[in-house]
Amino acid sequence: MQILRDLPALRAAVAALKSDGKKLALVPTMGALHDGHMALVEEARRHGRHVVVSIFVNPRQFGPNEDLDAYPRREAKDAQLLQAAGVDILWAPSVEVMYPAGYATNIRVSGVSEGLDGAARPGHFDGVATVVTKLFNQVAPDVAIFGEKDYQQLAVIRRMVADTNLDIEIIGMPTQRAEDGLALSSRNAYLSEQERKDALALPRALGEAKRQIEKGEPVEAALAKAIATLATHGFDPIDYVTLCDADSLEPIATFDRPARLLGAAKLGKTRLIDNIAVDPA
Ligand code: PAJ
Repeated sequence: MQILRDLPALRAAVAALKSDGKKLALVPTMGALHDGHMALVEEARRHGRHVVVSIFVNPRQFGPNEDLDAYPRREAKDAQLLQAAGVDILWAPSVEVMYPAGYATNIRVSGVSEGLDGAARPGHFDGVATVVTKLFNQVAPDVAIFGEKDYQQLAVIRRMVADTNLDIEIIGMPTQRAEDGLALSSRNAYLSEQERKDALALPRALGEAKRQIEKGEPVEAALAKAIATLATHGFDPIDYVTLCDADSLEPIATFDRPARLLGAAKLGKTRLIDNIAVDPA
C-alpha cells in the first residue's frame, strides 16, 4: 500500500493503477478506523478492482465548539488495518495540501442538508460537500462508498453528485453495529463505561418507535416516547428524533411512504447519531 500526501504523487499513482482499465473505488474517512469503516473497504473491493481510502480530519466540517482538536488520530494503526485489507493507496493529505493559502471555495447543497444535523451543526454539510467534492476530483474514482450511519450525509452527497453531473456511482452501506446494537463510531471512544451502557438507549428507542409506527401508532406519540426514553437515560440535549421521507429527508407527520427515523443527542460531552428504516409492510 502506498501512503501519499501530495497531489502530484496521488495523481501519478492513480493513473498507474487505472492503466489496466479496471475500476477504482474510493472510501472517504476521517480515520480512527473501526469495523464500520472496514466494512466499507470490503464493499469497495467488491465494486472496484483498485481501492483508495482517504484519511483527512476535515476542519471545515467541525463547528467552533466541536471536537476537531480531540478527534482521535491514529494513522499508523489505521495504515496497518488498510494494508491488511488489501487497499492500494492511503490518501492522507495535510490541511495545507487540502486547503492551501488563498483557498476560497465552498460547496453548499440546499434542501436536504438544511434540517436535522444541518440545523444542529450550522455549516457542517457545507464542509462535508466541499471536502468530498475535492476528494472526488483528486482521486477521480468510478465508485465511492459511504455508510448509512450518516444517513443525511449520504443523501447530501447523492444530491451533490446528481446536481453536478459527477460520473461516480455512490454506494450506501448498512450501519455496522456492536453486538449489543450500538452503531460503531469513532466518537464512541469518548464514552465512559456508564455512558457506553446508556448509549444503547438510542438504538433501542429508535427500534421501539419504528415498531410502533409500523404497527400504525400515531407518529407524534411514538417520537415523544422515544425522546422521553432518551431523556431518562441522561441524553441532553436531544437535538432531534424525527421521521423523514427516506429520500428527501423532509419531516413527515403521517407514515404513508418509505421513511427513515433519525435521532441525534448528546450523552455527556459525546454527540451520538443513529437512524433506522421504517418501511410500509
Ligand atoms: P467518518 O466519520 O470517518 O466516516 C467515514 C465513512 O464511514 C462514512 O461514510 C460513514 O458513514 C461510514 N461509517 C461510520 N461508521 C459506520 C458504521 N457504524 N457503519 C457503516 N458505516 C459507517 O463521515 C465522515 O468520516 C466524513 O464526513 C467524510 C465523509 C470522510 C468527509 O470528511
